[in-house]
Amino acid sequence: MRDIRNILVLTGAGISAESGVATFRGPGGLWEGHRVEDVCTPQALHRDPALVHRFYDARRAQLAGVEPNAAHRALARLDAQWPGALLIVTQNVDDLHERGGAKRLLHMHGELRSALCADCGARRPWEGALPPGSECPACEAEALRPDIVFFGEMPYRMDTIERALAGADLFVSIGTSGAVYPAAGFVQTARYHGAETLELNLEPSEGSVWFAESRMGPAGMLVPEWVEQLLS
Ligand code: OAD
Repeated sequence: MRDIRNILVLTGAGISAESGVATFRGPGGLWEGHRVEDVCTPQALHRDPALVHRFYDARRAQLAGVEPNAAHRALARLDAQWPGALLIVTQNVDDLHERGGAKRLLHMHGELRSALCADCGARRPWEGALPPGSECPACEAEALRPDIVFFGEMPYRMDTIERALAGADLFVSIGTSGAVYPAAGFVQTARYHGAETLELNLEPSEGSVWFAESRMGPAGMLVPEWVEQLLS
């Protein structure tokens, strides 16, 4: 096994499931009662902005009632104690990684507690409801929208992620179904560059065959075990 110094961790909705945040591809393929394409596409925002804004307002409000779990805290411990390079790339739009203490963190699919100007592209921290037509403080256009990367839009910080994947000795995927690209393809990029690959998930993901090792179970148990193993 190659010496491990540089680590890239990818997380998905499964890491927040034990905190009470619903995963996307739950029973019936619905996300909190909605089809993803009705609330998570530029077309949906254009067709029914009130619905899309209300949906993300509810998700943002829900954050006040949930707490980081043992998996978020274990990754924060790894972040604090790992001497090599580490990057936690999350697909999640909740703030549980940062509230758990993680610092070397990047939100590739946006953040609930942020607003994006559809006109000038400025992003700013946002608390509370975000009504359609809210004014952008940077350019004054009435064009603020939830800062969520919709299907068909480019995820954030892909250059940073690609660089970290190319330099990673270990790629670990936690709590993601492997259904959404480009994140679903990270394991193949990491392998191509020679990284060890490990999956921690409740069940085999769609890309499970690409991982050298898969451990199945709840993140709240598997992640603290893995971090302990790595640090000891
Ligand atoms: P999914 O809902 O597609 O997958 C969640 C995964 O977590 C599944 O494989 C579950 O088996 C697993 N899981 C559930 N509970 C778990 C637990 N307690 N411990 C460990 N694993 C558990 O969520 P994502 O893969 O994150 O995009 O979805 C990817 C993207 O699709 C999201 O970021 C979102 C969505 O459309 C955007 O919002 C742009």
